[in-house]
Amino acid sequence: MIAIYPGSFDPITFGHLDIIERGCQMFDGIIVAVLSNPSKQPLFTVEQRIHQIRHVTRYLPSVTVDCFSGLTVTYAKAHQAKILLRGLRAVSDFEFELQMAHTNKTLADDIETIFLATSTEYSFLSSSVVKEIAKFGGPIDHLVPDAIVKDVQKCFAKSPIL
Ligand code: PNS
Repeated sequence: MIAIYPGSFDPITFGHLDIIERGCQMFDGIIVAVLSNPSKQPLFTVEQRIHQIRHVTRYLPSVTVDCFSGLTVTYAKAHQAKILLRGLRAVSDFEFELQMAHTNKTLADDIETIFLATSTEYSFLSSSVVKEIAKFGGPIDHLVPDAIVKDVQKCFAKSPIL
């Protein structure tokens, strides 16, 4: 069975990787699907995020990485996937995630959302937290893989004062 793991991944964190790794134990394949959302101002382009995710999941042969726009269920149907995988960090995530799962169920009754509880050590972690810390020059090497640390720090590197 193939599961779609949709998200913004701006950038991918150890929390996302945790869900992907554990999803690999449950499903024959995982498609990490990066949402292309023109109404958001991301730090990384969709192409950069795809490249980053491919790089950090290269040891997981059942993972493929792609992008999509529009509805997640439309993308899932086009790829014959019946499962949407999402991580839940805390109760605060639950309200939005449940609403999204219910909405998706009204759009495609044969597609199920499966939630995995994020591992405790990443329960505070989000892409926004990573960007916030990096913006102020704090360490992020415990939050994202090495290759992503470099990419994020490059984005926030201060131009030299002339
Ligand atoms: O990583 P994120 O930003 O929490 O991911 C949110 C995402 C991409 C899963 C969600 O915004 C989404 O599915 N967007 C596609 C549009 C859609 O299908 N909307 C219907 C469900 S509300």
